[in-house]
Amino acid sequence: MLQSSRLLLRAIEPADLNATYRGWLIDPEVNRYLETRFLPQIIEILEAYWQAHRDDPASPWFALCLIADGRHIGNIKLGPIDWLHRRADISLFIGDRSCWGQGYASEAIALVGDWSFRELDLQKLNAGVYAGNIGSRRAFEKCGFELEGTLRQEAVNSGLRLMYPG
Ligand SMILES: CC(C)(COP(=O)(O)OP(=O)(O)OC[C@H]1O[C@@H](n2cnc3c(N)ncnc32)[C@H](O)[C@@H]1OP(=O)(O)O)[C@@H](O)C(=O)NCCC(=O)NCCS
Repeated sequence: MLQSSRLLLRAIEPADLNATYRGWLIDPEVNRYLETRFLPQIIEILEAYWQAHRDDPASPWFALCLIADGRHIGNIKLGPIDWLHRRADISLFIGDRSCWGQGYASEAIALVGDWSFRELDLQKLNAGVYAGNIGSRRAFEKCGFELEGTLRQEAVNSGLRLMYPG
């Protein structure tokens, strides 16, 4: 478990994989820049993914919850971790759109980033951000990530930016 001033990051539990959660994943506003938009979002498939990844030390995966009321508002995931090169990918989504624009993504990225460098002894985190995803790019930049490169024709109809912490 990780904690910041407003967020508690805890392990994802089967009860989290409910209709609300599925609703986030099929919401076109939420999934517009998520690779999961290409996958069928069926509870049984979400549960199978959870079973396959729940205890994977190379891919820590957290539910983002508000300390104030315990509400689960999204997820953040590190990994896969490359222990040899001490780097990992980081990705997140805030599924509850009423929580957008309140600094929760920045707070979660800063928390997981700090844990990655201090506790896991990683030296680099990578985040892939679609060119049009201004909010995500801004959230990562607020946490010290810098644009490392722009990949062209990397995905259908979009450019992908790769960033690392400065
Ligand atoms: C992108 C996302 C994670 C941002 O979460 P958030 O909690 O709203 O972000 P924050 O509140 O921490 O905002 C960080 C900065 O980005 C800005 N921002 C957020 N969304 C924005 C948007 N749509 N357009 C422009 N700026 C935006 C905020 O104003 C803030 O900047 P500021 O402090 O200078 O004002 C969230 O909108 C989301 O989950 N989207 C759907 C899934 C997704 O795209 N995930 C990322 C995949 S890489």
